[in-house]
Amino acid sequence: MRDDFVHQPIVVATAPGKFILTGEHAVVYGTPAIACPVAGVHAKAEVYTANSGGITVDAIDINTQIRTNIDLTHPISLATNNLLQHLSVKTPPNFHIKLSSTIPIAAGLGSGAAITTALLKALAEAMGHKLATNELSDLVYEIEKLFHGTPSGIDNTVIAYAQPVWFIRDKTLQPMKCATPFDILIADTGVASETMRAVAGVRERYTQAITQYKAYFDEITEIGLQAKAAIETGSISDLGPLLDKNHVTLQHIGVSSPELDALVTAAKVAGALGAKLSGGGVGGNMIALVKPTAIKSVSEALTNAGATRVIHTQVN
Ligand code: MEV
Repeated sequence: MRDDFVHQPIVVATAPGKFILTGEHAVVYGTPAIACPVAGVHAKAEVYTANSGGITVDAIDINTQIRTNIDLTHPISLATNNLLQHLSVKTPPNFHIKLSSTIPIAAGLGSGAAITTALLKALAEAMGHKLATNELSDLVYEIEKLFHGTPSGIDNTVIAYAQPVWFIRDKTLQPMKCATPFDILIADTGVASETMRAVAGVRERYTQAITQYKAYFDEITEIGLQAKAAIETGSISDLGPLLDKNHVTLQHIGVSSPELDALVTAAKVAGALGAKLSGGGVGGNMIALVKPTAIKSVSEALTNAGATRVIHTQVN
C-alpha cells in the first residue's frame, strides 16, 4: 500500500454501472432510449493529499500508476488535465488518488465511464469545486468520444445522474420516476464485444437500407414511449412484452447473436416477464425483467444456458 493511503482520504466519490432498458443503437440516430444505473456495483475514487508530484492515480484493479503530469496520453491523464483546464486551475494540486471498481470491465456495463465519473467528481470536490451533474456528464463525454467513436452520450449521462433516464441525444435530459421498483437480471454471454464495432456495423447496414432502418427506429421509439409510461405508472407487467419486442427489432438490425438469443429464450422459458439484449449487442449482455419470486430460478436458468455472470439489480 502507498504511504499516502494510510491516512484518511479527503474526498471519496462513487459512480454506478449502467444498463440500457430500451432503445440502444437507435439512440445514436436521435430516437429516445431508457437507461438505468446498476445498483450494487460501482467505481470509487479516493483522494489523499500528497507532498509533491502533482496528481498521481493508482488504478488498483489493473495495478497501474498514472502520473498525470507525465503520462499525458493516458485516458486518466486526459480526463484529469481536461478538468484542470475546465476549472482554470493552472498549478495541479498534489494528490494521490486511489481508483477501484467492482463493475465488470469490458462487459457493456459502463465501467470506463463510471471510473472517469468517480475520478472527476472526487478530484473536483477535493479542489473545492462542486460540478453540476450535466457539467460532470459533459466532461466524461469528452473522454468517451476519444475512445468510443461516436457514442450517443447515454452512458455518461445515466452514470452521472445515477438514476433512470429518458435520453434523447443532444436534447435536455429527463431523469425518470419509477412508480414501482422492478427487478432486472443482467447476464453476460461471455462473448467479448466492442460497442464501437457494433455501432459501426449498424451504420453500414443503415446506409444501405435507410427507409427500412428508419422504420425500425420508429418502432423502437414507440416501444420506448410505452415503456416510459409503464414505468411511470407502475404497470411493470406491461414492460415485459415491450422488452421482447425491442429484442426482435434489435435482431432485425443485426446486433443479436446465437448466444444472446439463447439467454433471452432461457430467461423467458424460466418465467421472465420479458428479455432482450442490452447495450452494444453482438456479444456482451442481455437483461431479463423478473418478478421478485423468480429472481433465483431465472438466474439459475441463465447460468445453465451458458451465462458467465448474472447480476441482479433493482431499479427504483
Ligand atoms: C451503448 O451502451 C449503447 C449504444 O446505443 C451506443 C451509444 O449509445 O453510444 C449501443
